[in-house]
Amino acid sequence: MIKFKRHLITSALPYANGPLHIGHLAGVYVPSDIYTRYLRLRGEDVIHICGSDEHGVPITIKARLEGVTPREIIDRYHELNKKAFEDFGISFDIYSRTSNDIHYETASEIFRSLYDKGEFIEKTTPQYYDGEAKVFLADRYIQGTCPHCSNESAYGDQCEKCGTSLNATDLINPRSTISGSKPVMRETKHWYLPLDKYEPFLKKWILEGKKHWKHNVYGQCKSWLDQGLQPRAVSRDLDWGVPVPLPGAGGKVLYVWFDAPIGYISATKELTPDWEKYWKDAETRMVHFIGKDNIVFHCIVFPSMLHAEGSYILPDNVPANEFLNLENDKISTSRNWAVWLHEYLEDFPGKQDVLRYVLCANGPETKDNDFTWKDFQARNNNELVAIYGNFVNRAIVLTNKYFEGKVPERAALTEYDREVLDALPEIKRRLEESLDQYRFREALREALNLARLGNKYLADTEPWKIWKSDPGRVATIMNISIQISAALTVLTEPFLPNSAVRLREFLNIEPIGWDRAGESDLVPAGHVIGGGGLLFEKVTDEQVEQQVNKLLATREQNSNGKQDLPPAKDNISYEQFSAMDIRTGTIISAEKVAKTKKLLKLTIDTGIDTRTVVSGIAEYFDPEKIVGKKVSVLVNLEPRKIRGIDSQGMILMAEDTGGRLVFVSPEDDIENGSIIK
Ligand code: MF3
Ligand code: ZN
Repeated sequence: MIKFKRHLITSALPYANGPLHIGHLAGVYVPSDIYTRYLRLRGEDVIHICGSDEHGVPITIKARLEGVTPREIIDRYHELNKKAFEDFGISFDIYSRTSNDIHYETASEIFRSLYDKGEFIEKTTPQYYDGEAKVFLADRYIQGTCPHCSNESAYGDQCEKCGTSLNATDLINPRSTISGSKPVMRETKHWYLPLDKYEPFLKKWILEGKKHWKHNVYGQCKSWLDQGLQPRAVSRDLDWGVPVPLPGAGGKVLYVWFDAPIGYISATKELTPDWEKYWKDAETRMVHFIGKDNIVFHCIVFPSMLHAEGSYILPDNVPANEFLNLENDKISTSRNWAVWLHEYLEDFPGKQDVLRYVLCANGPETKDNDFTWKDFQARNNNELVAIYGNFVNRAIVLTNKYFEGKVPERAALTEYDREVLDALPEIKRRLEESLDQYRFREALREALNLARLGNKYLADTEPWKIWKSDPGRVATIMNISIQISAALTVLTEPFLPNSAVRLREFLNIEPIGWDRAGESDLVPAGHVIGGGGLLFEKVTDEQVEQQVNKLLATREQNSNGKQDLPPAKDNISYEQFSAMDIRTGTIISAEKVAKTKKLLKLTIDTGIDTRTVVSGIAEYFDPEKIVGKKVSVLVNLEPRKIRGIDSQGMILMAEDTGGRLVFVSPEDDIENGSIIK
């Protein structure tokens, strides 16, 4: 590990507008907590900062929908989420919130400082305004007809049906979702951060200096920088947020993505009067843990702000993760497709370490990953119970049985004993190397390898078979097994903190310093261990079934909303129908369209030709998994350019009221190009 004087670890501030689920833990907080615990155990000076992100339009929309104030929403979810983090042992040094006074002061100061330096560009542009409600409308508050797919409830920033990103002015028949009235254009002034101006700095700093960042992170930054940056508005017309700290800026607040990352600074101020040494000393290393949707803000926008301000350090690394899916479907709050942390604890009380384990072992480190209850059960039963739990249980039970719990002296070591003891520092070294590179899955595998080693050692030496004939040999075996168990209390602690504490109780030992974890004499002969117990319990088939049924019920509910089905559209003539040329085809290749969440570029064999179709289904389907799929294609739809790609046609999809998409495919094998009529 490169030597730094201290470490400032931040975890993305979750929005206080909904509860936390496994996706949050897997993407951000399990890795950041493992990392921080690891540094703490190594005796480093480290603080871990987090808190609630309490601004932004979605919070105001949720409040409006529930008929309460935004304040009520954020209070509710701030408390709930704070508790969920505590319950799962996510060991922040502070869990603050962006509605605090100190945050308002800090965010205002930084805005003022950039303003005084003349960094911002002021621009007056026409924006939609609701004349009835007398407010400017954020894009999310405007709905209208999508110019691309005619979806009548497209939003001002995006059509969720076809996936196209929109400008509010693209919508046909726009309406305000606040009053329902037709919005009008009105001039309004905003402040823009000139990202284009910082481009040379960013290019040098990231493209040249951060080649060691994770591929997904570096790649995303590179593609942003290659495309060229534009000035970004950092204020909004809204009544919820940090007011723009300028005279005459009434009714304007800082854009949530301007104030939220400053929340890391405000929280540090709240934590310690010594906050400046964490933020303004080049010998501090800052690391941002985030999900992939936050990359541009943490790698481009926030560093630009800090760079322009001039007195702050920049992140050393931003180990962003990809997303976790649940049972092959995107986690979605609105569709209730999630495993909520508070509900997990009701169903699996005391089993936070198991979830931490599974989410780390299966973490979306380099690609999106899938959480399934079957996998949860398998990892618990086959790894935690059968390997880790089983080994320490046998070590403790046998030591109690043969030596009344008193750790016996080792006699002469066999070659095998030596090999086992020599493996300890080796495992520790590999684990550290993985953690130093933010490879948490790999590191966890190493930790488990230690238990695996112990398990194998006992299985190979079979002390229970030689107790009668060779008690001296058994003494050596049990001594070594206790040493391995003690090493496990240290090396598993970042991942499984509760179990590490329990194992120490079983062994009746005090915490052992990290540096010693590879040594062979962690517990001296003569020490009396405790009685032991079970570190982990099996997850039963019934438990899995119960969880799966819960999800099936959700799916059922989502697709059962008959009352939500839109009524039939107006009649059309047969001519109108037959004007559509719909054919069967096969997807022959699929890839994500760079920098979009929803778009896939598909190559389709339509029988008559091979063509490209851009489709808004990336959130529902893995490109690799749909190659070869038979589909129905509207082949005579006017071609149009989407994100610079010529899209020639449309793939027919069925969508239920829960937003689930499936392909409309020919039921039997039929040649491509067959006419659908
Ligand atoms: N609230 C944002 C999200 O959940 C994350 C904000 S991170 C911060 O995507 F840096 F802005 F705080
Ligand atoms: Zn659309």
